[in-house]
Amino acid sequence: MKQTYSRALVTGASSGFGEQFARQLSARGTALVLVARRGDRLEKLAAELGTEIEVLPADLTDPAGLAAVEDRLRDAAKPVDLLVNNAGVGTTGPFAEMAAQSETDKVALNVTALMRLTHAALPRMIAARHGGILNVSSIASVNPVPWATTYGATKAFVTSFSENLNREVRRTGVHVTALLPGPSATPLTDEGFDNRLPHLFWQAPEAIVARGLSAVAAGKPVCITSRVLAFATVTGGRMPRALQYVIGDRLIGRG
Ligand SMILES: NC(=O)c1ccc[n+]([C@@H]2O[C@H](COP(=O)([O-])OP(=O)(O)OC[C@H]3O[C@@H](n4cnc5c(N)ncnc54)[C@H](OP(=O)(O)O)[C@@H]3O)[C@@H](O)[C@H]2O)c1
Repeated sequence: MKQTYSRALVTGASSGFGEQFARQLSARGTALVLVARRGDRLEKLAAELGTEIEVLPADLTDPAGLAAVEDRLRDAAKPVDLLVNNAGVGTTGPFAEMAAQSETDKVALNVTALMRLTHAALPRMIAARHGGILNVSSIASVNPVPWATTYGATKAFVTSFSENLNREVRRTGVHVTALLPGPSATPLTDEGFDNRLPHLFWQAPEAIVARGLSAVAAGKPVCITSRVLAFATVTGGRMPRALQYVIGDRLIGRG
């Protein structure tokens, strides 16, 4: 049976998929807690959407910002029954030439913050025997993506973490879903994530987000967001690994 949610906390709600999660959830009457660094954008979105919305500006790579969002997830007065761990950063380029801080920030946001927020949200959800956690991973988590080396590794963590945790909590009424989109036109792909994936693999944020919300409500552990992407991943996965590397070289960054 599909779950429905009363209040969702969405990270990275100031643009791209996160903004779209806020729009689609608001249209269903779900109360929202919107998180990102750019509070002005969150305020603008909240004013436009108009359902019960809290704006919580926070830098999730900063210990104080992360703690504020963890505290909100533990707040019993207005319980959050859907956590959308969407905030994430990615760039392409030779790992050896990337600034160490930029790579560290990717791990802090894509891995550490996602794991910590999940840890903060879960006990209340288990106690209530109801809740969903939707973790935005990437198709890069299951395919070789040289030149997006740290990004691919962070997303491999997200998929593995979500799938195993979903299994752990399967009898508690809580679902954990890894969402694996392919490329989509958002600020992430506009600003520094270079890929040459053919047009048929691209999807609109609206479609990706709708798939994700259905998947978590249905309790799916992993959701690849289109049939063509799923087909390519399964058939690609059967190719010799050396050939997969060559395809990765051609499609991402500098190959
Ligand atoms: N677009 C794609 O092709 C694609 C494909 C697969 C997976 N994904 C994944 O989808 C998710 C959303 O990405 P997007 O494509 O929608 O890109 P985006 O528009 O750049 O969104 C990233 C969001 O993360 C927030 N964010 C960045 N750093 C943050 C920090 N330190 N603390 C808190 N929030 C932070 C940004 O808001 P502020 O700058 O206001 O903080 C923004 O709202 C990411 O996890 C990404 O890896 C994207």
